[in-house]
Amino acid sequence: MKKEVFGVCKDGRTASLYTITGRTGMTAKVTDFGAAIVSLFVPDKNGVMTDVVLGYDTLAEYEANPPYIGAAIGRCGNRIAGGTFMLDGVLYKLDLNDGRNHLHGGYQGFDKRLWNAVQTSPDSLTLTLFSEDGDQGYPGNLVACVTYAVTDDNALAIRYRGMSDKKTIFNMTNHSYFNLAGQNSDSILDHELYINADRMATVDEYVSATGEMIDVTGTPFDFRKPKKIGADIGADNDQIRYVGGFDHHYDLKDNGAVAAMAYCAESGIGMAVTTDCDGVQFYSGNFLPDGLPIKGGRKVKKRMAFCLETQFAPDAVHWPQFKSPVIEAGECAESETRYTFTVGEPWEK
Ligand code: BGC
Repeated sequence: MKKEVFGVCKDGRTASLYTITGRTGMTAKVTDFGAAIVSLFVPDKNGVMTDVVLGYDTLAEYEANPPYIGAAIGRCGNRIAGGTFMLDGVLYKLDLNDGRNHLHGGYQGFDKRLWNAVQTSPDSLTLTLFSEDGDQGYPGNLVACVTYAVTDDNALAIRYRGMSDKKTIFNMTNHSYFNLAGQNSDSILDHELYINADRMATVDEYVSATGEMIDVTGTPFDFRKPKKIGADIGADNDQIRYVGGFDHHYDLKDNGAVAAMAYCAESGIGMAVTTDCDGVQFYSGNFLPDGLPIKGGRKVKKRMAFCLETQFAPDAVHWPQFKSPVIEAGECAESETRYTFTVGEPWEK
């Protein structure tokens, strides 16, 4: 574990950059600003350590970070339509930071906060954040905790915990953008993807959830057999049109089993995502702002990386048919997601 100064925040506090390395050499760099993953090095087919996530070189870029690159997302990942919700007869009003929706916890969500980092072991780091009652409009004083660990089987394990003194919403995720070809690649359309889901949640033209889940059979959204991300991304389909590609929540078939897998033939790097969450958002980076400067003097390109964000169903607080993201006062909510890296295809042939 190494700790370096990353920069000085606008409010004068110092942010750090932590390096955690596992026994196999897999390395994650994490900043306490936004509890963001800055780099993730895994071996490719030639044994070369390859950085498979987007990131920035400077703290100032993380303080702006419009696409939430690498950051921890909270209190609630994804959109809450209208930015309001009721709990026990009380109406709560949140920021409308995405048109008519509240997105990823609001203007000053967990991605815009300096977390308190503690080294938990040589290959893990725990970050804690105190989010006060009324923070971004959410009820309850809440303590959020994220642990990143690099494991012996080349996984980045992320454990989320949250506890509040009032009933509130807790639905954390991580917003890493992956490109398994490494830092010189501009597109993920040739990556193959598998998603272990029969159903996905539809959205309307404002990208608010409709409350419906559709069967993926016969649609561009069927990834139950590995398929190139680019194969159907331009399909003539309203769901594709509303979000400019893939940006949908998949209802996972087996909790705890593999949620999704991806493979890049060029680097030979595979990735498997396992989670105890009920769903995962597959986002093909359609809204990535072309030209935004990123690590190593490079610039962002639309669809140069993808996200697999494990989460509750979108806008679940409004739809009783979806599992509720609401936690009771004093309840400790916990979930874990692992991104495990392989050399060679992650699935059986
Ligand atoms: C959402 C996208 C959104 C992006 C913001 C993703 O999690 O699914 O719709 O544009 O976050 O960077």
